[in-house]
Order: sequence, then C-alpha cells, then structure tokens
Amino acid sequence: MIFSRASSAPRWTGIFLLLSTLFALFGPAVMVKHENFKTCDQSGFCKRNRAFADTVASTSSWTSPYTLDPASLKFKDGQLSGTILKSLKDGEEKVQLPLTITFLESGVARVTLDEEKRRKGDIVLRGDSKARKERYNEAGNWALVGGLETAQGAVLSEKVEEGYTKVYYGLGRLQEAIIRHSPFGIEFKRGGETQIRFNERGLLNMEHWRQKVEKPVEEKKEGEEEKKEEAETENKEEEKGEDESTWWDESFGGNTDTKPRGPEAVALDISFPGYEHVFGIPEHATRLSLKTTRGGEGSYNEPYRLYNADVFEYEMDSPMTLYGSIPFMQAHKKGSTVGVFWMNAAETWVDIIKSKSSANPLSLGIGGHTDTKTHWISESGLLDVFVFLGPTPQDLTRQYGELTGYTAMPQSFAIAYHQCRWNYVTDEDVKDVDRKFDKFKIPYDVIWLDIEYTHEKKYFTWDPLTFVNPQKMHKHLEKRDRKLVAIIDPHIKNTDNYPVVDELKKKGLAVKNKEGNDYEGWCWPGSSYWIDCFNPASITWWKSLFKYDSFKGTGPNTFIWNDMNEPSVFNGPETTMPKDNLHFGNWEHRDVHNLNGMTFHNATYEAMLERKKGEIRRPFVLTRSFYSGSQRIGAMWTGDNLAEWSHLEASIPMVLNQGISGFPFAGADVGGFFGNPSKELLTRWYQAGIYYPFFRGHAHIDTRRREPYIPGSPYIEIITQALRLRYQLLPAWYTAFHEAATTGAPIVRPNFYVHPGDEKGFAVDDQLYIGSTGLLAKPVTSEGKESVDVYIADDQPYFDYFDYTTYQGAGHHTVPAALEKIPLVMQGGHVIPRRDRPRRSSGLMKFDPFTLIVVLDKDGNAEGSIYLDDGETFDYKQGAYIHRRFSFSAQYKSLSSSSLNTKGAKTDSYAKTMSKVRVEKVIIVNAPKEWKDKKHVVVSEEGAKESARRKKVEFKYHEAQGKKAAWAVVRDPKVGIGRGWKVDFS
Ligand code: GLC
Repeated sequence: MIFSRASSAPRWTGIFLLLSTLFALFGPAVMVKHENFKTCDQSGFCKRNRAFADTVASTSSWTSPYTLDPASLKFKDGQLSGTILKSLKDGEEKVQLPLTITFLESGVARVTLDEEKRRKGDIVLRGDSKARKERYNEAGNWALVGGLETAQGAVLSEKVEEGYTKVYYGLGRLQEAIIRHSPFGIEFKRGGETQIRFNERGLLNMEHWRQKVEKPVEEKKEGEEEKKEEAETENKEEEKGEDESTWWDESFGGNTDTKPRGPEAVALDISFPGYEHVFGIPEHATRLSLKTTRGGEGSYNEPYRLYNADVFEYEMDSPMTLYGSIPFMQAHKKGSTVGVFWMNAAETWVDIIKSKSSANPLSLGIGGHTDTKTHWISESGLLDVFVFLGPTPQDLTRQYGELTGYTAMPQSFAIAYHQCRWNYVTDEDVKDVDRKFDKFKIPYDVIWLDIEYTHEKKYFTWDPLTFVNPQKMHKHLEKRDRKLVAIIDPHIKNTDNYPVVDELKKKGLAVKNKEGNDYEGWCWPGSSYWIDCFNPASITWWKSLFKYDSFKGTGPNTFIWNDMNEPSVFNGPETTMPKDNLHFGNWEHRDVHNLNGMTFHNATYEAMLERKKGEIRRPFVLTRSFYSGSQRIGAMWTGDNLAEWSHLEASIPMVLNQGISGFPFAGADVGGFFGNPSKELLTRWYQAGIYYPFFRGHAHIDTRRREPYIPGSPYIEIITQALRLRYQLLPAWYTAFHEAATTGAPIVRPNFYVHPGDEKGFAVDDQLYIGSTGLLAKPVTSEGKESVDVYIADDQPYFDYFDYTTYQGAGHHTVPAALEKIPLVMQGGHVIPRRDRPRRSSGLMKFDPFTLIVVLDKDGNAEGSIYLDDGETFDYKQGAYIHRRFSFSAQYKSLSSSSLNTKGAKTDSYAKTMSKVRVEKVIIVNAPKEWKDKKHVVVSEEGAKESARRKKVEFKYHEAQGKKAAWAVVRDPKVGIGRGWKVDFS
C-alpha cells in the first residue's frame, strides 16, 4: 500500500520523524512530489488541446471548423439559439452542437454549447459501462442560486450584416454581442469597445463522440507487442494529424482510466484585448496578477490547473492545482474590469499568454497595449460560460455573487481567533489549553479537534480512553462562551461494528466504482468508503448523524470541520478517486470532480441546520475543497502549508484572490502546518493572520506545541497584542462580512479593487484593505525586517493606526515594523468602529461599548458604517440588526449617526436588547487646528429626555507633533449605538 501522506500511526510517525530530520540535515527543503501529479503533457486532453493550439498558431491557412448555421437561429425572450456545425475531415457528416446565448437581466451573458448526439443519448458506451451518456449538465444545480432572469430588453440588431448576428443588451443596451457565423466566434463590446473575444484564435474544440475502431488483434511474438502498438499509433497520428493515444484509456500512477465515452474535452480561447492583468481562478500558490504559462522569462511552462487535490507539501509560485477551484477570471485595466466564469466541474487547465501590440503609426500619439489571451480546456461536460462586462471590479463581484451566492453571514465567534492542532489529545488537554489562554489573558474563541478525538478514526465517535467526557469539556468551554470544532471527513471506515458504515452500505449511499459496486479506497482510517453527497438521500441520512442524540457528546457549541473532501484517497490516482467512478445519477467522477468537495460541505451545512428541532442557528463548517458557490456554506483554508517565510508571504495573495473570486471567508494555517516555525516567524504569522478573514492557528501532529502562550517573552506579549487588535476591530470585521454577504465585495481587498484607476498598483498583492474601513495593512513576511514599504495609491493622507504618523502622496512609504510594531495605516475619510475592552472571547464583548475612530480626509470629511446583529441566529432576516452610517462633515462641523436599517418584525425587539450599548469614546484623527482650545462638544440624541437633549461632553485636543497628526477625543458621549445622534464640534 502506497501512502502519499504521512500516516498518523505512532510507529510510522517515529520513523517519519527520524527520516525527515535526516532529510532536513542532508537533503533539500521539503518538496511536493511532482511525480504524483500530472503535467499538461501527462493529461491526455490537455496535451491534445495544447498541441492543437500549437498547430493552429503555426498554420497560416488554418480556419476553425465550427460554423453557426444561420438557418437555425432563433431569438426569443432574451435568448438566441441555434446550431453550430463542426466539420470533420473527408466529408464525414458534420457534428451538430446546439448553442444558446442567454442575455440576463443583470447584464451578464451566458453561452452554452452542447453536443446533439450525446444529449440524445445516441452514443455507445464502451466496456459495459453504466455511466451517463450526456455531457455533464448539472454543474449549475450546485453552483448557481440566482441571477438567471433573462433580459427582456435584449434586442437583435435591425441592421443585418452578412455573416453576423448582433444583439444589444445590458443597461441602456450599451453592450453588444456580435456573433460571427463562420468560423463561429463572439465579440463582446461595451460602449462600442471590444472587451472579450471568443474563438478569436480558433481554439474552440468540442471533442465529439466517435466509435472506437478496434484494431485487429494479431498473434504477436513476445516483446513485439509494444513496438507494434507504438508504430500503429504513430501511423494513425500521421494520417489524421490527431493524437489518439489517450482517447480510449489513459494510465497514470498505476491506475488506468477506462474512459467509456472516449474523448470529450471542451476547449475555447478567450481573449481580453487591451487588458494586461488577469486575476482569479483560485486555488494556486501564486501571485494575484496571473502569469503567462507558455514559457519565457518569469513565466510558467504549465497552464494553471484546476483539479481539486490533496497536494502534499505544495510548492510556492506554481500553477499546480490545489484543494479547490473557482473558474472565475477577471481582466482589469484602467477604467474597466471584465470577466468570465467557466462553469465546468471537470479537470480544467487554463493557458495564459500576453501579447504586446505596438503603437499604431496611424493613431497619432496612442501607445501600444497588451492583450491577454487565455485558453480554457476541460476534460468533459458542456461549454457553459458567463461573460461579465463590468465596468468596475465591484460590478463583477456583485454579478458573480448574484449567480453563485454571497458569503453566508457567519456567527460572530467564527470571525474571532480559532486554536487548532493535530491534535489536542484528551479532553483534559483541551481544558488545559483553554485555561492557559486565560492565564496569559490571550483572547480566543474556538478550540479544534482533529481526527485523533475519534475512536479509531470512526467519525461520530469519541475515543473512550482519551475523550472520556466530551459533555463536560463542552460545559467547561461554555463558561467563557467558547466553542469547539470537531473534524468529520467524507471517508467512512470500512470495519465491523460501526453502524455508520453499515448504514452507508445498506442504504446504497457510497460512491461507486466503474462496475457499480461500492468504491473502496484508503484514507486516514485505512480501508474506507466515501459518502456520495450528490445523492439527496445522502444528505437526509447525513442530517440524522449530527442530531445531538446521535452524535452523542456534542451540543449547540460544537461546530464542524470538513477535510479531505477533494476527495483525498491515498491510494487513488493523483491522491483522489478514479475518474471512472460513478456518482448519483451515474455521472462519472470525471464530470463532477471539482464539485465533490462542495457537495460534502453542503451536506454538513444542511445537517448543522437541523441538529435539534426549533434550534435555528447559523452553521459554521470549514472546508478544504471548494467550488463556485461554496461561499454560501462556510469558510475555507489554504490547506497544508509549511512553516516557512515563503508560505507566509504567499498566503496574502492567496487570501486576496479568494476575496475577489467570491469566496472571501478564507485563511491560511497560522504558523504553517508542517514544520516548526522560529519564534520570529510565528510572531509575524500572527501579525499577518489577524488579517485573514478566517483566522486559525494550526499545526501538524509531528510539530512542537506552539500556542500563543508558548514562545516566551517578548513573543507572547507581541502575539497577544496582535490578537487583541483583531478583537478590538471585530466590529469593523463583522461589518465587512455583512458587506460581503449583501454585495459580494471581498472582506480583504487588493489595491486594484479599491483603486481601479491606479495602474501602478494593479499587481500589488502584498498589502490589503479591510472591508470599506480604509484600514490598510502590510504584513511583514520576511525575516529580520525593521520596516515595510507601504504602497499608497491616492493623494489622501494615511495615518499610522497606533501613533497617527502621517503618510501622504502616491507611491511607497517606509513604515516602521520592528517585531513589536504592526504596520497598519488608516486612509483619511473613514469612521472605524471598534471595541476597546480586552476580553477572553468575543462572546463576552457582546454588550461592550464602542469607540469610533474618525479619520478625517484631506478635506476634513469622513464616512463609515457599522453592522451588528445577535451574531448567532437568522433573526437579522427579520430586521433584527443595527446598521448605521456615521458621517463627519467639515461643512457642518459635526459627526452624526443615521440609520441604514430596513424595519422588520424583529427590529424593535433586537434594538431593545442593545439599548444600553453606547459609544464610550470618539477619537478624531487629523483634527483641525481651530479645535485647539475647545473643551466641550455638544451632543444630541434622538429620543433622549428633554434635559439630556443637548448635553455638553468633555473634549480634549492633542496637537500635531512632527509627522504625527493632531487628534482629539470626545470622552464618553454616552450615545446609543443603535440610535440617531449628533456630535457638534462648532
Ligand atoms: C489534512 C488537513 C490537516 C489536518 C490533517 C489531519 O492534512 O489538511 O489540516 O490536520 O489532515 O486531519
């Protein structure tokens, strides 16, 4: 049995430790096992399509064989439909490909291409396969939740141009889709300018179904066989110009994929003329601005790959696949952002090239520009692409969110600090760690249990020797309003006397192998089966397992972690399932692979909603594997990183990329999963981790303990300070989550998103903005640093968060960043809500008063907001929340709070619970000089008693000192956080 993962068995752990120590001393640093994962060349359909691209590029007389039949065209209710004909060689019958182009009310266009023969089931499967015959057409059932209303306003152009069909659509019909019939291609325009082109390079390729022509089996002498086959293949290739060697079966790492439907890849080139940067298509350990992939300096040689996989010890700066996939790409240039969502769940590769077009001598003074050209290649399924024409990055995240859903509003504890390791070994250990956090006065909210809590890796059980009294452990945590997260993976141990596996088998809910029997493979428990969550019956059954009286020892403060859901199969090809395995509905694993993780995550989310009748609370489920739509059901983390500086550095662009790709509740293992971080690295990682929307410390079983109270002075104090900063700013974070949950905006934002017109900053990916707060953080991600250079995009003043040192002017500014100093600045123009009282957990802050930081911009104005709710239930859907806007006006010399609420059935009752929660302090940064001698301000509050309607409140002004801005404090205005009020500074 080959294990590509470190086994958790103690004996092996010992040997592994010894070997890895030796390796660390004498060998190079740990490295991904490249040989376990395919390159494009080893993935038949990728190789074929890349070769096709090369042939096309080198053949001047070449034309794409796809033609739209004009006679087939129909336009009705915002939808254009017709048939594309693919010509084959030698006068063979043309292949019919039904096309629909749907224009959506949101301004998004959707292009879908199917294959008539497969759609009708008019094909023959090879080798007794029970697989479905159609191209997979259900990705939308999982990924999409809305935004599909068709645009009644979309119209066909009245001007008929021979060979073209033109549709006007979008707001004010300013968008056009110009469909060229022969060869087929589409040009998308906005405001008369071309933004996106389909099949410009002629790389559209739908591998149609064909019958395998069996070669006659001849008697061969031993040894002759291979030679003969090779010769045959070569002859064929020469004859037909196509490489058939991977059409019918394909072997990798000892596994043969039987491909009962033969070749069925789908590929298309998508060009972004005039766009130099493309972002998105996570998950890769790479920069935010994607690199080109066809060689040359600073480029990759491999396409970006999307094939969810458990990549052990993954490498940095690489287009290799990781655990999750979001095939959403956006192209950005000054004044415009556009994008595509390639909705396909099969293995996918994306090649990117850029070409510089030189200045046109006729267009006086207009310089050259860069075009980005992409090539999308998927192994099977429909061609189904959504086209977004922006024009802003905000439009893209909103429209993509309308389709795939916005981030679920998490419980408030979920955005505080999580403490994990593989493993806290007993219930006493858990309590001990909890007590130590308290002893050192370090805030934390959640402690996690990895796989060792189970009885012999059987999920839904507790190890009877080490977790003797889980209920008591929960009770202990509850005292400080803390939670427990327990891991539940999708592999179910194949063993006797385990009712879970018996039921799984009896109910027929496991993933099947190609013969239709329960698929058996290896994971943490050894021999295992996998629950097939594409099956609705699996979800029903899964729900029953999480009921409190079923998963005994759990309660309302237990939450769940889903891991290994790519799925990870230690003895499977590329550490996952064979592609010819079968899922519910007899879809091949090949078709649905990238959705698999999301379906499991979804089942757990559903189960968490129904643990107890009448108890309706927001679930928290962490997932490692994901697809478009996973944001609706939980958080993700970037998997098994290494305790190395390079991994800390990569985590920032990775988290930023998740944000702009619609799944912003993201984070990396703080401290690095494998290996032991130095104290400096650990400290810096905490200082960076406080900016991950999902903030969790985690470590591998073979590492030394490294909870924040471990590293000794001064590290403990410095880490505590970082954690307190996260806790202090939780109101700002929660508000940012609310924005993500209602508009699709990222929680942490890259420079280009905030300053879409600042060309110099488009590729900046080592610093981030927190929501709309204007807080700009640049974490230290390399050793021995005393300062960082923060990039400022605009002419607003920025102020150091702690001492108000001013930085102004576009460009880089050196900000001090010795170990004890967290580089964080505030852009002028914002009001930042926070809670300053240090507490042991976020739950204990629920009724704490607020401090408002008013950071005046260059004109003396500031705006901000706060969103609050009970942090637990769904009552906010019935208006149980507080949403306020704070504005400081230079003109009126006042700060006011106004309501952004829409009243609902539960608005008043919630407001009542918060009626005593006040603003206890207002700090004004960049305070005007004329306030120098002011001793009071006048505060008025709506609904206050007559006597208190205009009350005088103490005010103190602090003059500017050198580069440090002037600031002022309003001490305890005692205004309600949920009420309207005004502070008058005149
Ligand atoms: C996987 C996870 C890791 C976890 C381990 C044991 O490697 O990525 O976080 O600790 O499995 O469950």
